[in-house]
Amino acid sequence: MTNIPKEKTLDSSVKLLLEGFPFLQRRFRKFNSDIFETRLLLQKVVCLHGPEGAALFYDNEYFKRNGAVPKRVQKTLTGENALHTMDDAAHRHRKEMFMSVMSQESIKRLLDLMAAQWQAYTLEWETMDRVVLFDEVREIMCRGACAWTGVPLKESEVSKRADDFVARVDAFGAVGPRHWRGRFARIRSEKWIARIIEQVRNGELQVQEGTPAHTVAWHRDLNGELLDQHMAAVELINLIRPIVAIARYITFSALALHQFPVYRQRILAGEENYVEYFVQEVRRYYPFAPFLGARARSDFEWQGYEFEEGQLVLLDVYGTLHDERLWERPTAFSPERFKYWKGSKFDFIPQGGGDYDSGHRCAGEWITIEVMKQAVAFLTEAIEYRVPNQDLHYSLRRMPTYPKSGFVISNVRRTGKLP
Ligand code: HEM
Repeated sequence: MTNIPKEKTLDSSVKLLLEGFPFLQRRFRKFNSDIFETRLLLQKVVCLHGPEGAALFYDNEYFKRNGAVPKRVQKTLTGENALHTMDDAAHRHRKEMFMSVMSQESIKRLLDLMAAQWQAYTLEWETMDRVVLFDEVREIMCRGACAWTGVPLKESEVSKRADDFVARVDAFGAVGPRHWRGRFARIRSEKWIARIIEQVRNGELQVQEGTPAHTVAWHRDLNGELLDQHMAAVELINLIRPIVAIARYITFSALALHQFPVYRQRILAGEENYVEYFVQEVRRYYPFAPFLGARARSDFEWQGYEFEEGQLVLLDVYGTLHDERLWERPTAFSPERFKYWKGSKFDFIPQGGGDYDSGHRCAGEWITIEVMKQAVAFLTEAIEYRVPNQDLHYSLRRMPTYPKSGFVISNVRRTGKLP
């Protein structure tokens, strides 16, 4: 048996909040190890880093999710008892429902709906002195996501609903007012969508078969029962809220185009697959999910280390995406690296790793990539703009984070080209 390196601490929760994204990475480096033990939220936590750690973390034989996602995250980000917290047959069955709306055809429908929003918004931007990209894109995403899912969105409510989805994501690493904003936003959004589920079920609202609202409203769990109205609302929101969250990656994409203008040129030069390399590098380089949690199903030994039943384990997402053993010059923004990336399921894990169907890997990863590619095409081909002086800094201590100014653009002019 080998001892797991141990941080001497009564509890490091406050340090985690103060240090933010690099918290785990710093300690892996300090211990020169891909595993260490600390204490967070008053319990022992084993932290894993890198592809081998990720492969273990995603092995359903050893780990489960039930009891791993803190209630404070469920009460803001995911909703309570959602797919994220399920295991085994019940998880696979529910995941199948999510993956059934991720066909190429369904994603194409989403992109068509999003394209109409991009066109309407860029037309409007031409008339504005300054455009706060993050604020605008969250509305584009919210409108597109609602249209795609089949959820009617009143014109007067667009900003409020988009705000609530943003607030729920914004709360995941927060204490105090930001956390409470997330909680109230969850309550409001669940009430709204529960009513939509009710209307779909009683026929007041007609939605097409195959749309997410129809799929979730009529999904039956393994016991053959429809999801209760609240649970159905939670899961339908789990298809809308994360689409709105793509606004963060799109804002980071705009930042990358500004900070590294050479890549704008390469994208415009039309090199095959270049937009894809670019958005993959945005997902690697810029911070979003810091780590993920699971619990050991039973006592077991791995590489000589002992794990105890019920042990909380964290997988270092941010650090794995910035590990110099996996990524040459990880602190450099370099889309080219994805030309040569071999595509392991456990090294490039911005939205989780492993398998989609049998594991917890993000159900919306393909959507995220395609929606980002479309956004980058609009930002490079469809419009020209200036980037005035502003505070573009994004704090790694804030989880989640984005550029402080929200990325302001001005003098927007449409080029007449549509991607
Ligand atoms: C799970 C990140 C977009 C739906 C996850 C996980 C992460 C993640 C880290 C957890 C993986 C795990 O527990 O192992 C992101 C990021 C996104 C994004 C950074 C882009 C901003 C989306 C989109 C959708 C989506 C667009 C759907 C439309 C889900 C669902 C799960 C999930 C349903 C739960 C999967 C499960 O537990 O089996 N996502 N996601 N996500 N994501 Fe995403």
